[in-house]
Amino acid sequence: MGGFKKNPSTIVDLLQHRQIKGSLRSLITSYPSIDFSSNDYLGFSSKGLLAEELKTMNASVQVGSTGSRLISGNSLLFQEIENSVAKFHETEGALIFNSGYDANLGLLSSVPQKGDLILSDELIHASLIDGIRLSFATHYKFRHNDINSLKELISRHRDSFNEVYVVVESVYSMDGDHAPLIELASICRDGKVHLIVDEAHAIGVFGKEGRGLCQELNIHDDCFARIYTYGKAMGCHGATIVGSEELKNYLINFSRSFIYTTAMPEHSLLAIKAAYQLLIKTPEIKKLKANIHYFTSIIDSSLDFIESRSAIHCKLIPGNREVQQLEEKCATEDVFIKSIKSPTVKEGKERLRICLHSFNTEQEMGFLFKLLN
Ligand SMILES: Cc1ncc(COP(=O)(O)O)c(C=O)c1O
Repeated sequence: MGGFKKNPSTIVDLLQHRQIKGSLRSLITSYPSIDFSSNDYLGFSSKGLLAEELKTMNASVQVGSTGSRLISGNSLLFQEIENSVAKFHETEGALIFNSGYDANLGLLSSVPQKGDLILSDELIHASLIDGIRLSFATHYKFRHNDINSLKELISRHRDSFNEVYVVVESVYSMDGDHAPLIELASICRDGKVHLIVDEAHAIGVFGKEGRGLCQELNIHDDCFARIYTYGKAMGCHGATIVGSEELKNYLINFSRSFIYTTAMPEHSLLAIKAAYQLLIKTPEIKKLKANIHYFTSIIDSSLDFIESRSAIHCKLIPGNREVQQLEEKCATEDVFIKSIKSPTVKEGKERLRICLHSFNTEQEMGFLFKLLN
């Protein structure tokens, strides 16, 4: 067929548009060695701690899982881990998904129904947004961490919908700040609204033995569902939704990202088990806390950082090109920091996202501070 191009012109045009805007994404395979970028907050993955713990288990594993959980992929190991995860997070039921993305997609696309309302913080993660997009419920956003904005939406709409869900992250992935969980729990209780909290960046960092922020603040019983992902501080992969036994049974029956996918293989399950075993005895959480404390004590208010008590610290540098230049400057000094550009964040809100780890040294943090100055 003369003149027919294999690639639709839209994909070529959109890539070009990204190039012009300075927001073209690409994959890299080698990284500067001073890590202020990975989500491996406790070094479980990069420092081999999880691998060491796994060795102590001395397990020989089947490599593939052979089918979805509802066909041939389920096992006693799933059952054992889910029971102990539910106990660790002080709830009735826990259900493992292949990733945090799958968990959020499966939860939000299946639970809220037509006639229900979802109210989400405007900065929730893409995986939660995609789940909401697949749901038939109505969706409104409230201003980031703004309790009054949420209250106003609840009072305006509560009576027009059947069930109402509020969706937040305990620690925001691109800002590092906290949701006002105590106030949120109280508003949701009073308004008979169901609270959903994504704890991706709080597990391993907050709470006794890294149980997360909901348990640290003792509001876990107020949550309808909590999501714990394992690709960050836990150093492995996968995620669990915890909540009531009914929620677990519901997800097994209706959550498409749980039902229609091959089950997680045994080696990944054992890594999750090992990560929880490590959490309760590791000194890394304390070291991470000390580093967060040290870093926040040295950064200057003139540096325009978003306020944070978590492992994520963001310095606003408006403009894709400007923030990219600083990322490159850091890389030439062997410092690994990622710039977060629009459209991942709003235009004008581009930033350097600094992830602190238990293994970062004071010298490294001091050096970073000098670079940013
Ligand atoms: C807040 C939040 N939720 C969910 C996810 C997705 O988790 P996973 O990487 O396991 O798919 C991420 C990861 O980027 C995240 O930051």
